[in-house]
Amino acid sequence: MALQDFLDQLDELGTAAETAFGAAADTVALEAARVTFLGAKKGQLKSIQQQMGSIERADKPTAGKAFNATKGRIEAAFEAAQQRSNNNTDSDSTASIQFDASLPGTTFRCGNVHPITQTIEELKDIMGRLGFSIVDGPEIEDDWHNFVALNIPDDHPARDPLENFYLATADAISGDKNPVGLLLRSQTSTVQIRVMEKTAPPIRIISLGRVYRPDTADATHYPMFHQIEGLMIDTDVSMADLKSVLRLFATSYLGDDVTIRFRPSFFPFTEPSVEADYYWNGQWVEFGGAGMVDPNVLQAVGYDPEEVTGFAFGLGVERLCMRRHGVADIREFYKNDVRFLAQF
Ligand code: FA5
Repeated sequence: MALQDFLDQLDELGTAAETAFGAAADTVALEAARVTFLGAKKGQLKSIQQQMGSIERADKPTAGKAFNATKGRIEAAFEAAQQRSNNNTDSDSTASIQFDASLPGTTFRCGNVHPITQTIEELKDIMGRLGFSIVDGPEIEDDWHNFVALNIPDDHPARDPLENFYLATADAISGDKNPVGLLLRSQTSTVQIRVMEKTAPPIRIISLGRVYRPDTADATHYPMFHQIEGLMIDTDVSMADLKSVLRLFATSYLGDDVTIRFRPSFFPFTEPSVEADYYWNGQWVEFGGAGMVDPNVLQAVGYDPEEVTGFAFGLGVERLCMRRHGVADIREFYKNDVRFLAQF
């Protein structure tokens, strides 16, 4: 064989091997290329080596040198491909281990009950211990329970569409001039009426739930918030009973001996009406509205105001929770930010 032909074949083999090793996409392809070019028995390098026997003796040293150089070139190409493949395999295997529960120090985050729900449960407990049972009422209310039976006349500002979330009823949609008024209840006092309509005195209940008002959200107001409503009806219930119950309630919730004060106020469904405040941590804080149930309300539900009297109160749950935990902004409760919620 002519020396030049041999050298050309070596050059072609080197180029082909570099291309094949460079293109090998995985370990299987790489091994196949290795066998093709570097295989000990049938590899192409081996078969070229066998042709060296037919080269002129004088050209053999040149052919031998060129063969060794090509062999080195092909082996270097193989090693580079092998290195690349190892790197890929390492990162593949790291990616495939997504989660190893057996590793030490893995922390699990548990969800917890929303602070307002926690407060509601606690308030129910406290009032339960004072002998009040818990009653639920609907959040969609009618005109009678939200206004009429609560002694709120037709022209009262509390009925203003700007103060309430009225719902479009079938009658309203069809253009009826006097649609049946439905609305999202604006206060839990509606439940007083529902209970008294169905139950004969004595009554000692609380109702806790969502109420809705189109108030602009700010640090102390939210358009949806929770109220706790208390109602006690019996013979000879007085303002002194109201004050005692509110004081015991505040003392149990806030954990201190709390003083209560009453300021004159007005609610259509209580007479007299008061705003109750409690003194805590060196300052007077608004508790909520309260009063003696108005005789008109007692009559509306079929009670005789000459025979029974009662008190009612309505407090904002968010504001109680804010005060106890030092939360400055009511909106924090409804942002669903787990960094805030996880603190309770
Ligand atoms: C009432 O809703 C009366 N129904 C309370 C009542 C019941 C009086 C029984 C007499 C007898 P008032 O509108 O003041 O009252 O609301 C009561 C409490 O709800 C307030 O003291 C306040 O704590 C809370 N509150 C009122 N508006 C909001 C609001 N937008 N966001 C958060 N809390 C509110």
